[in-house]
Amino acid sequence: MSGKIFIIGIGPGAEEYLTLKAVNCVKNCDYTVGSARAIDLFRDVKNTIAFNVKDLVDKLEEGVELAVSGNSVAILSTGDPGFSGVLNTVLRISKEKNFSKDKIEVIPGISSLQLAAARNHIQWDNANVMTFHGRENIEDILEVIDNGKITIALPSRKVKDMAQFLLDNGVSENRQVTVCERLSYPDEKIVSTSLKNIATSEFTYMCIMVISSKD
Ligand SMILES: C[S@@+](CC[C@H](N)C(=O)[O-])C[C@H]1O[C@@H](n2cnc3c(N)ncnc32)[C@H](O)[C@@H]1O
Repeated sequence: MSGKIFIIGIGPGAEEYLTLKAVNCVKNCDYTVGSARAIDLFRDVKNTIAFNVKDLVDKLEEGVELAVSGNSVAILSTGDPGFSGVLNTVLRISKEKNFSKDKIEVIPGISSLQLAAARNHIQWDNANVMTFHGRENIEDILEVIDNGKITIALPSRKVKDMAQFLLDNGVSENRQVTVCERLSYPDEKIVSTSLKNIATSEFTYMCIMVISSKD
């Protein structure tokens, strides 16, 4: 039997944002690889391989190896796999192991970015969409922050550090920022205030920043 990999977006976290395609695909796969939080969303799942931040690459390699040896493998990614997700990492590992791209299918999910835009009634095709997740260099945001559009960003590390960076680089302390935290979870929190206030507030890592356009 020829193996197959499905890279599946699981949405922002709540079960109701899973696609039917994702549910059916996981049900039919021999193995499912993902964070414990992601795997827990699925009721009908066969063999599971859970990863955490530290062993993520090892477990993805294990998943690809299983596909190489003929199994169907679902790899779960929060939100959408193609937006700060595991897509590129899985493609790289698959290439290293000579597993053909033709046997990899990407199943999109609802990105946390999309849900943040929806919660704020933003038509995001005209927004600056940026991700700084896992990046140290956040200077790119300065190139767009004053271009008259709304900026929706996955912050690098802490929200307040990102806010302080903007203040330090001349963005007005009165700029409105909406922080969307733990979207879709029962304790979802959406806070709208000035950049100055955001720079002194604490949030978890699971946040999207929506920064208003320059007037
Ligand atoms: C590794 S990235 C994954 C992004 C994902 N691929 C997506 O499309 O949403 C993780 C970051 O996404 C954001 N994120 C993921 N789920 C979230 C949620 N439910 N609420 C707010 N932000 C979320 C946070 O910025 C978090 O640090």
